[in-house]
Amino acid sequence: MELINETLHKYCELHTKVFENDVLNEIDRFTNLNVLMPQMLSGYLQGQYLAMMSKMIQPKNILEIGTFTGYSAVCLAQGLQDEGHLYTLEANEELKAPVTDFFKKAGLEEKISMQIGNGVELIDKFDIIFDLIFIDADKSNYPLYYEKCLPKLKKGGIILIDNVLWSGKVCEEPIKDKKTKAIHELNQRIQQDDRVENLLLPLRDGMMWVRKR
Ligand SMILES: C[S@@+](CC[C@H](N)C(=O)[O-])C[C@H]1O[C@@H](n2cnc3c(N)ncnc32)[C@H](O)[C@@H]1O
Repeated sequence: MELINETLHKYCELHTKVFENDVLNEIDRFTNLNVLMPQMLSGYLQGQYLAMMSKMIQPKNILEIGTFTGYSAVCLAQGLQDEGHLYTLEANEELKAPVTDFFKKAGLEEKISMQIGNGVELIDKFDIIFDLIFIDADKSNYPLYYEKCLPKLKKGGIILIDNVLWSGKVCEEPIKDKKTKAIHELNQRIQQDDRVENLLLPLRDGMMWVRKR
């Protein structure tokens, strides 16, 4: 299900300008030519949205779960404080070399660390309180990521969760597949969670904003 038609989407892109970085175009090209499921990439509009949000928050520490080809990490890093750092977790080892190269080209090699492994386990190793967390990995583990991330988020900090509308499948009844069930369960859990304020934005495939009280 398209949340916005192609013409309007193009119009929005044509009227969105936040920061210039040639590496983003290179990541986009590389992803479309060399990587399976290139549609997982955040893309121009959502990427600029993430950059803008990060610039507003000015985080010291960012955690991202689901690096893919590094597009969203480069965008999120735009708002980091001078001494700030972004930690990004990715299960697919094959992405390590090209993505490390992209971070270097973006001048972000000192600001971003990419760790390869299962995000569910890697989160436990962090003894850091984050200002901003972006959850964008395996959907079946979304509720688990949320519960593991919330204690590592500072008061007033933000968790952004991508794909929470899952192409509209969260509205189907009954929900049949495991991924959609996990996403819907998380949306409901957040809605009932007194520890947070939240906003589900119909941006691209749905972006949940969670602010820790
Ligand atoms: C939707 S893509 C991320 C897109 C990226 N954030 C962007 O916006 O360009 C999801 C990524 O999560 C990774 N992934 C899946 N399961 C994972 C896990 N258990 N731990 C860490 N990464 C995982 C996939 O390999 C994939 O690269």
